[in-house]
Amino acid sequence: MPVDPVNASFPGSPASAPGIAGNGAGCGLALGYLVFAVRKPSRWERFCHDMLGLPEPVSNPDGSHGYRMDGAMQRLIVAEGAEDDLAALGLVCEDDTVFDALAARLRGMHIPVEEGSPPLRASRRVQRLMAIRDPDGNAVELAVGMEAAPVPFVSGAFSSGFHTGRLGMGHAVLVSHRLEAMEAFYTGVLGFGVSERLATKVGPMDIRGIFLHCNERHHSVAIFDMPLQKRMQHFMLQAEDVCDVGMAFERAKLAKVPISLNMGQHPHPDGTISFYGVTPSGFDFEIGAGCKEIEPRGWQPLHTTVTSSWGHKPSLRLQMKMAASMLASAVKGGSRAKQ
Ligand SMILES: [Fe+2]
Repeated sequence: MPVDPVNASFPGSPASAPGIAGNGAGCGLALGYLVFAVRKPSRWERFCHDMLGLPEPVSNPDGSHGYRMDGAMQRLIVAEGAEDDLAALGLVCEDDTVFDALAARLRGMHIPVEEGSPPLRASRRVQRLMAIRDPDGNAVELAVGMEAAPVPFVSGAFSSGFHTGRLGMGHAVLVSHRLEAMEAFYTGVLGFGVSERLATKVGPMDIRGIFLHCNERHHSVAIFDMPLQKRMQHFMLQAEDVCDVGMAFERAKLAKVPISLNMGQHPHPDGTISFYGVTPSGFDFEIGAGCKEIEPRGWQPLHTTVTSSWGHKPSLRLQMKMAASMLASAVKGGSRAKQ
């Protein structure tokens, strides 16, 4: 009988997910692409060009636009949609063997899998694709064979380019109020490992989080329990050169892109120097550099109570947004309690 991933529990762990390990350093996956459904695609076009410094997008058969940031044809896929949020998390397998082993594992766990149709594969520009849902209902697309761009990547804004390769395009941070179920899914089903667990306070807001790795990148996916309404909290692109991060920060201020967290550095073992701003859809982006890699083999999860070793001072705008979110959650909780 098929398992409903939204209500199921996955008591697995990376160690119990044999056959989906790649080359031994992680589970053979990487964050390959992100798909956003956005209300104002023209604003995103300007944002991707002016703020992120990405070249002209490609048009896909489903009407979405794909932006590249390295040798792949697309990494950020922007489609028109009312959600203004994450539409799909694209995890790429390092080869067909990993893809096949993962497919067999999903079958063995009776998890419903939607085979990627030819039109979907054409729009994602991948050779093979299967889609599942995580416990929060986020679409997770598992793919292999990303289409390569015919010419090298060049960006005037990020002259040294972005750090991607086998580490993937950066990271995605999801919002969830079912942290344990999400952790069990990403570790027990997909084979991620836990890099760190976070419990902290930002202003009056309590935040719990988990940072998950699938290769040497400290986290390709993180999940935060915090009072936000969106699925996506932020995504991060890693520049090769920290100077490009500083210039992007200056560019954001000049273009009046709302800043959430000023320049700062995440503590060891991550070490990323970055800043955070707001996308045209209201969730955040992070541009960073200097991300330290971890050794997934034998990694023991760490616990942390701090998100930054210096800087990352929240803007007044973010403080007000957090206060409004907390108030909205309290009102929602209160009206639920009265029912
Ligand atoms: Fe981040």
